[in-house]
Amino acid sequence: MSTDQDQFALYPSLPDRPVFISGGGSGIGAAIVEHLARQGARVGFVDTDDGASTALLDRLGAEDIAHQPLFERADVTDLDAYIAAIERLDDALGGIDVLVNNAANDQRHRIDEVTPAFWRDRMAVNLDHQFFAAQTVAKGMVERGRGAIINMGSCSWRLGLGELSAYVTAKAAIEGLTNGLARELGPSGIRVNCIIPGFIKTERQVKLWLTPELEKIVLDGQCLKELIDPAYVANLVAFLASDDSRMCTSATYTVDGGWI
Ligand SMILES: NC(=O)c1ccc[n+]([C@@H]2O[C@H](COP(=O)([O-])OP(=O)(O)OC[C@H]3O[C@@H](n4cnc5c(N)ncnc54)[C@H](O)[C@@H]3O)[C@@H](O)[C@H]2O)c1
Repeated sequence: MSTDQDQFALYPSLPDRPVFISGGGSGIGAAIVEHLARQGARVGFVDTDDGASTALLDRLGAEDIAHQPLFERADVTDLDAYIAAIERLDDALGGIDVLVNNAANDQRHRIDEVTPAFWRDRMAVNLDHQFFAAQTVAKGMVERGRGAIINMGSCSWRLGLGELSAYVTAKAAIEGLTNGLARELGPSGIRVNCIIPGFIKTERQVKLWLTPELEKIVLDGQCLKELIDPAYVANLVAFLASDDSRMCTSATYTVDGGWI
């Protein structure tokens, strides 16, 4: 099955829409940057990986798209610097209408290895920044009376995967965060949803974790017997960012080939 952009929907509400994505330099985040930029949105993203982010900008620079994405190097665990970067991109993009809370780190950890500092660090990279990014962009969204926030969760806690106790705790919390934000921001016309990716075949997953044994576990678990390209997560992000999903909020959507 082709993952070419011309096979997928283009949303009439997305051209010129200001969109901000954390961790947009590689993996699912990069697929979201590419897909939203090709929809004609004004895209800004942060990442700590300069090399991957620059390569992404170079790839898109060769394409005839309405707005080339803006990149700022920022670490989402340094909240003051991260919020300042969001505020600069908010100015440059003309008021962020869509926030995609995507950055995370799924480094494996056994229970006996976890120190209090490591635990706090996992919450910082996988959870805390999602709330503070939402708090930052919500100010402008409330003034404009519209906005969409998309939080990236994970199938890992629902499947009960091992050696990830801090990561799965953060990812479970993101579903609660989604509902809490949606309730409070809904009266201002702001929608908040969560996407749960299954096993998505990103560069990092292939390099670090994808063995023939894991591939068999994933494909045995999924209803659909095909590993999932990041483009399919980006497609759902585009729908949730667009006005086509105007009455969808406080919900969790999976892209997992029917694994959970
Ligand atoms: N790939 C999967 O199978 C899968 C499964 C379930 C959930 N997810 C979730 O989807 C999202 C994207 O996952 P992915 O697989 O593309 O991850 P990835 O590790 O491939 O990419 C994450 C991106 O975030 C950036 N990043 C990491 N730490 C950062 C920091 N402190 N500050 C700024 N940027 C930082 C990385 O440089 C990278 O570009 C994450 O929220 C992840 O938890 C992915």
